[in-house]
Amino acid sequence: MPRRFQCAARVGAGLLAAGGAALALGAALFGGPAATGFAAERVAPGREGGLRAELARAGAEFDLGRRTYERYCVGCHGAKGDGKGPAALFLDPKPRDFTSGTFKFASVAAGQNPRDEDLLRTVTRGLRGTAMPSFRLLSEEERRAVVQYLKSFAPERWADPPGALVPRSPDPYDPARDDARPVSEAIEKGRIAYHKNGCWQCHPAYVGEDEFRAIAGRPPRPEPEKSVLTEDVWGEWIPAPDFTRDPLRASWTVEEIYTTITAGIGGAAMPTMANAIDSEQRWQIAYFIHSLAEKRGTIPGPPPGRRDPRRAGGGK
Ligand code: HEC
Ligand code: HEC
Repeated sequence: MPRRFQCAARVGAGLLAAGGAALALGAALFGGPAATGFAAERVAPGREGGLRAELARAGAEFDLGRRTYERYCVGCHGAKGDGKGPAALFLDPKPRDFTSGTFKFASVAAGQNPRDEDLLRTVTRGLRGTAMPSFRLLSEEERRAVVQYLKSFAPERWADPPGALVPRSPDPYDPARDDARPVSEAIEKGRIAYHKNGCWQCHPAYVGEDEFRAIAGRPPRPEPEKSVLTEDVWGEWIPAPDFTRDPLRASWTVEEIYTTITAGIGGAAMPTMANAIDSEQRWQIAYFIHSLAEKRGTIPGPPPGRRDPRRAGGGK
């Protein structure tokens, strides 16, 4: 494909993401100065100024995104965004292939396009236990721009809007409530709900055989204390984390664990549980998993000034 059209396709994706409707115009405008006049001819009289400003803004964001990507991301995610940067060979898990347009950690049902805030959170905080670093030190403008830029590697996929936020019911154990129920109850009930709802099919079981039989009404699977490997859509075999040993990658707070259970994990074997498990039990399981992770230090501690690690987000 001639370079100019590749560039046009990318700008098109960026524009769509920015909510601009003028895809073809964008392509023409950014094709070069000569094309600008061509584009302007087709705009309704009186609208040129606004459109031009919008396109210029999107163009500047695209440029900033590209520069940020080429400086900070290319070594792992590759010049083509296919996850095959020079460092990728040595990494497990592998850097994300952006040409697939599929992402793991988002607040939408697994498989749908993530929201900008989801991608921004990943870029800002990194993914614990993987090579994906935190880019907290980049400006928010750079981080937002690079998020738009990485969509340009899968323009067809990003023609679809992001998925809807998965529903979240109020947390019955939130201490800010007057009628908050005790957290110890959440953890105890979560332990039961976790083993009742089949999480142990991939993640380990955390109770002895007798208790397992009593809760699940069946014997445990072979080697219940070990994680099971499942294949993801990129062809990698990945373990479901053991919460007492493996760092939680993206779900650090009770609320984030609740969202992950509700949404599932895109591209991985973990499906959305929004309909399979009622919301109260999802909160209880989230408290249970958080308690395991906290006990073994597989979750970040609270940032300075925050007392309650269950609610201490890592920031945006
Ligand atoms: C040192 C290597 C490395 C660098 C540099 C790096 N990444 Fe990553 N990135 C990874 C790895 C590894 C994963 C996959 C982690 C996983 O599968 O859990 C990943 C995953 C991601 C994801 C996908 C998260 C999801 O939910 O699926 C996004 C988005 C991302 N990186 C963006 C970026 C951006 C933007 C930059 C540059 C600002 C960058 N990365 C730089 C290694 C890197
Ligand atoms: C079919 C297999 C499977 C089942 C069943 C399953 N998971 Fe998972 N889960 C996975 C895999 C695989 C990952 C790792 C994804 C990754 O990080 O690449 C994962 C990751 C997670 C994470 C970590 C998210 C993070 O930020 O690192 C949580 C929390 C989780 N699962 C909770 C649950 C709960 C709760 C249940 C039961 C309701 C459950 N899972 C059932 C396969 C499964």
